[in-house]
Order: sequence, then structure tokens, then C-alpha cells
Amino acid sequence: MTPVGFVLIGAGSRGADAYAPYAQHHPDEARIVAVAEPDPVRRAKIADLHDIPADRCFGSYDELFAQGQLAQAALICTQDAMHVEPTLAALALGYHVLLEKPMATTPIDCTRLVMAAEAANRMLVIGHVLRYTDFFFLLHELLSAGKIGDIITVAHRENVAHWHMAHSFVRGNWRSKAESTPMILAKCCHDLDIMVWNLGQNITHVGSFGSLSNYQSGRAPAGAPARCLDGCPVESTCAWSAKRIYLDLEPFPHLRDTVAKGEPLPSVWPFNVLSTDTNYAARLAAVQNGPYGRCVYHCDNDVVDHQVVTMEFANGVTASLTMHGMGFEEDRTMRYDGTLGTLTGVFNAQGGRIEIHPHRGTPEVYEVDGRAGHGGGDTGIMKNFVAAIRDGGTPRSTAHESLESHLLAFASEDARISRDVIDMAQYRAKLRATVEGSKQ
Ligand SMILES: NC(=O)c1ccc[n+]([C@@H]2O[C@H](COP(=O)([O-])OP(=O)(O)OC[C@H]3O[C@@H](n4cnc5c(N)ncnc54)[C@H](O)[C@@H]3O)[C@@H](O)[C@H]2O)c1
Repeated sequence: MTPVGFVLIGAGSRGADAYAPYAQHHPDEARIVAVAEPDPVRRAKIADLHDIPADRCFGSYDELFAQGQLAQAALICTQDAMHVEPTLAALALGYHVLLEKPMATTPIDCTRLVMAAEAANRMLVIGHVLRYTDFFFLLHELLSAGKIGDIITVAHRENVAHWHMAHSFVRGNWRSKAESTPMILAKCCHDLDIMVWNLGQNITHVGSFGSLSNYQSGRAPAGAPARCLDGCPVESTCAWSAKRIYLDLEPFPHLRDTVAKGEPLPSVWPFNVLSTDTNYAARLAAVQNGPYGRCVYHCDNDVVDHQVVTMEFANGVTASLTMHGMGFEEDRTMRYDGTLGTLTGVFNAQGGRIEIHPHRGTPEVYEVDGRAGHGGGDTGIMKNFVAAIRDGGTPRSTAHESLESHLLAFASEDARISRDVIDMAQYRAKLRATVEGSKQ
């Protein structure tokens, strides 16, 4: 079987470590034939791993796209604000595109991308990896099979671990709304996507509340300096100490064991974000000098650390989504109540557990293993995308469906700020008219 050829745009954490490994592990299905990555170390590493010739390695996506179409598909894994231009270029050249979420940083650009994919008759799949996990697939199947009857109400929580909140949304790449996106989009477009998928209905109205409560200077302990290692008086007891997270590896017992055995710390998230090298000296330098060593109360973050979204679906179902960055561990929990019973679910780094409690009858319990990246979703989305290209099928999530969750996230942010309830039909129609108008 001829493998599907890919060009990789952005060989960072997601491009190099989440999606490209699929080609290494399934060489008969996928092959990375070219890369665009400005960082020479990252570029050389991916070229080496995938045997990409020097004349197929580029410093930027515009150089790569200037060569014309080099493969069937493009993996676009640049940062949030750099999604639109390479995606439009790739679609125009005839590539099918797997684009990382969020599609774009404005609702208008998200809408433009979907319309461009339609016009080019190319597949545009967004990195909604949760849909491709065994856990959420089973959850969807159980609900679709009517195990709890007609769904009446849903409560879904995204409990972001306190150290993850600090890493990504206080010290890291998604801390600033202007530089990336609102947190409800960055973190919860997956969750909104899952809810819309399970309900099979559009949402009619959205309301939202939330704010930045903890990770701001007003909460700083007395005498806390700008960086954890600059003599902070509470460093040894602070849950967010950069030493504790990145040097002592406290939230990662399995990695602590690896290092204790004298083995190197693998290049895995979140350490691959600190520096290319993940040894102790490199991590110490990053904590001493880089953004990840900053006190969580003295950063330049402005995204919320807790938000609640309430929704009404077209069939009258009500739902709430709670997201917060104060979790003792990372998980998603959910409860669906229906005419015939209740479904509860817990999804975390190990996999998950789903329980069905019928109003009458015996409960059912399902345990799902999911230790691979994003519960197996990183591999699952690649497998599905490759199969859709090769066999001409429809991917499990279409750009149209992904657009809905993105628009919901933007609308939630608008609702949070305005304190208004957003009418989604009006919201969608206004956007489409704006995009149509801008094309005339
Ligand atoms: N699906 C998910 O669950 C999930 C999880 C985490 C991140 N993401 C998203 O994935 C995207 C990438 O995140 P990341 O953590 O891998 O970021 P990253 O910063 O590690 O990687 C981005 C890469 O793009 C490269 N780049 C910059 N300019 C470029 C150019 N002109 N041409 C080609 N490459 C260029 C950078 O050098 C970097 O290596 C983001 O949009 C992020 O929000 C998705």
C-alpha cells in the first residue's frame, strides 16, 4: 500500500511529538515528505527521524508552499495565531489539511477556513482529538444506543490541574487572550465539540460567567519575588513552585521514577515546551531564565481561571460546562441524565470509567484504557484522517462540525464579557453575512 504523503508545518510539541510519530509507527500508511520549521534544531531532528531530504526542509511554510503541492496532505501545527494563512495556502494548492485546534483566533477566520475548504473541495479536519479516543467514542455509542433514553440535561466539567493551568495558561503560550485565544476556546473547544456531537443538535442560546481569580498579583504571598528561584519565602510550600514542577517532577511520579533509575527524562510535554533538551541542566536553566520559572502571581496572564457556560439545545436539552484551573489532578467529568437513566463518566490520563445507572435495572460499568497521547486521540485522528484520504471516506469530525464548537466558544466569551445571553442563530447568520460580504 502506498503511504499517504504529508508535509509538516510546524515541528513543535504537537507537530513533532503528537502527529508525526504516526508516520514512524505506521510507515505503510503515512510518510512525512517535507517539513517547514524555523527552529533549526527541531527541523534537523524531524528530518533525521523521518529521513526527509535537505531540499525538502524549509525554514517557513511560505517557502514550502512556493514549491507547489508536494504531497496529498498537510499537517498544520503552528501556534494559534498562525493557522489561517498556511491553511488557506495549503487548501488552494490542493492539500487535504489536518489543522490543529483552534482553527483560528476569530470567529470570522474560522468561518472563512471552512468556506475555503468547501470551495476547494478538500478535507479540513481540526485537531479535536477527544472524538478519536476510545473513551469518548464509547460514550457517544452508549448515548446513541439510547442507554439512558432521551437526554434531558448534561453537566460537563473540565478540571484543569493546578500545575497545568500554571504551565499553559499563566506562564505559557496560552496565557494572553491577545496573543492566543480566550481560554474557553483554547481548552474547551474539545468539550463543546463532544457535547454537540453527543446531542446531535445545534445550540440555540448561550450564557456565561467567569474571571481570573487566583493567578494574579493580588494573591501573591508576602515577599514573593518575580521568579521562584530568586529566594521566594514560600517556594518550599507553594503548589506552583517551578522547582517542584519542572525540577523535582512532583506532579509526574512515573517520570520521577524514570529519572531515579538513572534514565533520561523523555522529550515529552510539558518538558519539551521548556527547552529542546530535557536534561536537568537544561530544565534548571529554563526555570532560572525562561518564562516557566516565573511566580504564578507575577505573570503577564489575562485569561480566566474559571468559567461556567450554560447552554440550551434546539430540542430543549439544557447543559452546563464548567472549566477551572484549580484541580488537584487533571480530568474531565460528566453526567448525562435521561428519560431512562443516568450516565456518569470520568476521563483522565489513564483512560476512564463510564457508568450507566438505569432508573430500573442493573447498572453497567465500562473501564477504558487510554494512556496514549490524549487518551489515544492523537493516534486515532491520524489513523482516521489517513483512512479518509486513502479510501475517500468522510472523517469522523468535519470542519463544519468543528466550526460549531469554535463559534460556541467565541459566543461564550462574548456572553461572559457582556453578561448577555447570546442567540446562536443570530450569531451564526451575522458571521456568515460578514464573511460573504467581505468576499464581494
Ligand atoms: N489538539 C490538542 O489537544 C492540542 C493540544 C496542545 C496544543 N494544541 C495546538 O497545537 C498548536 C501548536 O501547539 P504546540 O504546543 O505544538 O506549539 P509549538 O510552539 O511547540 O509549535 C509550533 C511550531 O511552529 C513553528 N513555526 C513558527 N513559525 C513557523 C513558520 N512560519 N512556518 C512553519 N513553522 C513555524 C515554531 O517554530 C514551533 O516549532 C497550537 O495551535 C495549539 O493551540 C492542540
